Amino acid sequence: MKFSNILSSLSLFALSASAAFWDNIERTELFEIMETRVPEMRVTLGNDTWNEMVEKAQVNDLSKSSPFETQAQMKFIYDGVEEEYIINFKLGGRYSRETIKPGYNIKIKGSGETLHGTKNFRLRGDNRDASLMREKITTEILQKSGLLAVEVGYTELYVNDQYMGIYVVSDAVKGKWIRRKFGDEREDIKTLYQCKEDGSRLDDPTTKDKCVNANEDFLDYMEPFHKFIDQVQAAKTRSDLEKIMDVDNFLKYMAFEWIVGTWDHYLGNFCHNFYWYQQPNGIWVYIPYDHDVDMGSDIWTAFFPDKPFSSIDEIEFANVSFKDFELNHPILKILVHDDDTVFRQLVGDIVSKVFNPDTLLTRINTVRSLIDPYVKKDKELNAGMINKLGKNSRYNYEHFYLNSEYTYIFNDDYGFKGYGLKDWIVRHYNFIANYYGIDKNHKLIEPRPEPVVLPYTFTYERVLIGEKVREVVRGQQYAIQQYSPNPSYADDSAPVLGVNKFIKEQKDKKPQQIEQTEQCWSKKLNYPCCKCTTYPIYKDNDGAWGIENNSWCGIPNNCPKSECPGKIYGYNCCDNCNVISTDQIGNWGISNGQWCSIKESC
Ligand SMILES: *[C@@H]1O[C@H](CO)[C@@H](O)[C@H](O)[C@H]1NC(C)=O
Ligand SMILES: *[C@@H]1O[C@H](CO)[C@@H](O)[C@H](O)[C@H]1NC(C)=O
Ligand SMILES: *[C@@H]1O[C@H](CO)[C@@H](O)[C@H](O)[C@H]1NC(C)=O
Repeated sequence: MKFSNILSSLSLFALSASAAFWDNIERTELFEIMETRVPEMRVTLGNDTWNEMVEKAQVNDLSKSSPFETQAQMKFIYDGVEEEYIINFKLGGRYSRETIKPGYNIKIKGSGETLHGTKNFRLRGDNRDASLMREKITTEILQKSGLLAVEVGYTELYVNDQYMGIYVVSDAVKGKWIRRKFGDEREDIKTLYQCKEDGSRLDDPTTKDKCVNANEDFLDYMEPFHKFIDQVQAAKTRSDLEKIMDVDNFLKYMAFEWIVGTWDHYLGNFCHNFYWYQQPNGIWVYIPYDHDVDMGSDIWTAFFPDKPFSSIDEIEFANVSFKDFELNHPILKILVHDDDTVFRQLVGDIVSKVFNPDTLLTRINTVRSLIDPYVKKDKELNAGMINKLGKNSRYNYEHFYLNSEYTYIFNDDYGFKGYGLKDWIVRHYNFIANYYGIDKNHKLIEPRPEPVVLPYTFTYERVLIGEKVREVVRGQQYAIQQYSPNPSYADDSAPVLGVNKFIKEQKDKKPQQIEQTEQCWSKKLNYPCCKCTTYPIYKDNDGAWGIENNSWCGIPNNCPKSECPGKIYGYNCCDNCNVISTDQIGNWGISNGQWCSIKESC
């Protein structure tokens, strides 16, 4: 039995499939796993507790909702591997709780226990995103641009064996996330501030009271943040700002926000959904989160008070310049409008790396084919719709498909709406290319040509394409040509512009190269090293072997190890140290009548 399971683990070859889109990015193993699969999370809890949770989920107004949280068991299943965890299971999300398919937050219990490297994560139904891909694609745009972002994947959820459908899984920015991403080794992260409340602008003194310390043990520790707000408000020049914050990194995030047309972060009227974090070197950095309405979704002219277009019903947001898009932030006058040379380069870098139709349209097809069968099943069964009072966009499988292409979707009941993903990308790319001067190879043209300013008003009608769901159709003269992407276009060079300086300096300091060759024992034997996330398939006296690109590679000695060697083959770790048999994987014992893998610590 043991042996046949080990053979079936050969299907894990797929785990090492080339992931070119991600070559420069560090993720936890959980998100590596979800790169090419949609695993199952099966949560079990007492029926009474679940009934109470469903009861608490009946919400049509967030301010009337109450929290609900309980301990539960969770099986995590992928590729026939089944793992068990004890979790904290909680109704989650803000707006998400007002929708028919509410979200959940999960925390893996037990000190040091994680789900393949991730301890806290969120499951969201994203009912108002017809494409179900906004969160995924936007965070990938960030990461591929060299900007930190939460990580995103998909899972199927079951609660007490009831099928709840597909959920978007995302990482949560917490102390552990900060330690991992920034290499901040301090035990307590005390200088991470979350700005959830509307209007957390840097030029507004009340922001001091709006943002909160993200570490519950240090809620009163606000002085550093207050000082930061004062310093930003006093700053007159770029060099004043450079003393307190990572300026180019911040600017690249601002470029991103405009590029993906989001109104739900710093640039938007609501000015929320981000963190400010003071790094060990004293310099502040910006970290946005929650990307379900990016990419031209639910964007309204009324969110732009004081702009000439604020009273027009519908405009072409893809043709609105950065200057007209941002809401008169003094910091952006200093950093962009007075001289936009650096900003233009940052935009150019994002375009070359990722925000071009060749890269993104290809990527959308890949992500869509991964989730397609799961979305279909979810939509057919109206899965997970436990909040009977909640808002229901009524987006079905067909709308999912249309909205990931070129169809602009509008919901009659709630006015949810959104550009088709490919439509937004092609339209906005065209604008950026005209305004900043970008050639067919997605590179900035030097010297810079005169910016082309384009009109943004158009005529449209809304045509019914489903129950309460309409398509926004533009006049013929504003239609765009569908784009045939060239899948071989790639700019995989590591981003250097606007990447986090602190992290970069730390990485440059570490003599990583040398360390790696020492740990990479298989080089001597003329085999390449595996990535740490490659699964060991065979062990001999030299070390553990895995397979990448269909050939053997050696797993470096310094890769993090699991508690017991059999865990990755689907076995539980033994709760005792009685060795019954031994093979190339390690020692085996028996627990509860089942084979189990003896812990390394025995
Ligand atoms: C819980 O509910 C399910 C379905 O409603 C039922 O099949 C199961 O027997 C119940 N379990 C217990 C312990 O009552
Ligand atoms: C937006 O700009 C494009 C060029 O990129 C132009 O063809 C189009 O007509 C403009 N849209 C509107 C609504 O004016
Ligand atoms: C496998 O291919 C990927 C992508 O080309 C490369 O990054 C990786 O180093 C290769 N692995 C090995 C062990 O050669």
